[in-house]
Amino acid sequence: MRHKPYTTFAFFKAAIVITGILLILLAILEWGLGVPAFLPGIALLLLAFAVLSFRIVQLIFKFQLSRIHDTNQVEALLWLYSRFTPSVNLPAMREVAGSPDFLKVLVEYFYSHQPKVIVEAGSGVSSIILSEVLKKEGSTAKHYALDHLEQYANLTREKVLNPHSEVLFAPLKDYQIGGKSWKWYDVSVLEKVDKIDMLVIDGPTEDIQSLARYPALPLLKAKLSDKAIIILDDTNRKDEQRIIQLWQKEFGLNAKSMFTEKGTVVMWW
Ligand SMILES: C[S@@+](CC[C@H](N)C(=O)[O-])C[C@H]1O[C@@H](n2cnc3c(N)ncnc32)[C@H](O)[C@@H]1O
Repeated sequence: MRHKPYTTFAFFKAAIVITGILLILLAILEWGLGVPAFLPGIALLLLAFAVLSFRIVQLIFKFQLSRIHDTNQVEALLWLYSRFTPSVNLPAMREVAGSPDFLKVLVEYFYSHQPKVIVEAGSGVSSIILSEVLKKEGSTAKHYALDHLEQYANLTREKVLNPHSEVLFAPLKDYQIGGKSWKWYDVSVLEKVDKIDMLVIDGPTEDIQSLARYPALPLLKAKLSDKAIIILDDTNRKDEQRIIQLWQKEFGLNAKSMFTEKGTVVMWW
């Protein structure tokens, strides 16, 4: 059997044949039946060709970028595994869960900043990875991961084996912030927690409200230490970009973008 490389040649062949047939039809209309259709028809064909070419170029760039990101995920995983061997089976990464390049940013900041108190908004594979790193390094840092969905809080809790790490079920609660109503995790579960020096914001999910992660800083600012770093994921999304603008305006934060597949921004004062 002959193996053909995967190409879109069949599509281009079909486009050339269809264009040929259309040209013949336009010529018959114009010179056979006397309908003045040739020039408008050519104009329409050229327009369709331009739109299609633009779309193809867009797809080529998208494909190239996703290839770069795929490679980065492998490299990030290799880097993580060079630091520690997980003692549990890790859940699937990417999609809704954290991607390896984001997890690598978290672990790098753990090493460079040596936080004593870590809080995560949105538990999952990131919580497991952080708990494993803390355990491997013998760190006594306290680590709390909030989740508004009990099912996911329980799933993550089963795999968080470090006694200094805790997954807290924190259902969404209504808050009034700046005269508007917002939903966010019930922060009363963090009542005894303060001087947070690493705040990771990867939840709640965007479907709960517009600018879903905005309340994180207004609600937790008072609990942050002076040297706190704030790491926000999914910053390729318009909502998260707007949230950063709002936080910078309201809290005067510095921000640095990390090149990850979903976009990650690190902020500090
Ligand atoms: C962006 S995810 C949190 C990701 C987490 N930081 C991680 O690295 O996996 C936000 C929320 O989605 C929910 N979630 C987690 N895994 C999920 C899944 N497989 N399908 C749907 N929702 C999920 C959880 O409630 C979680 O808090």
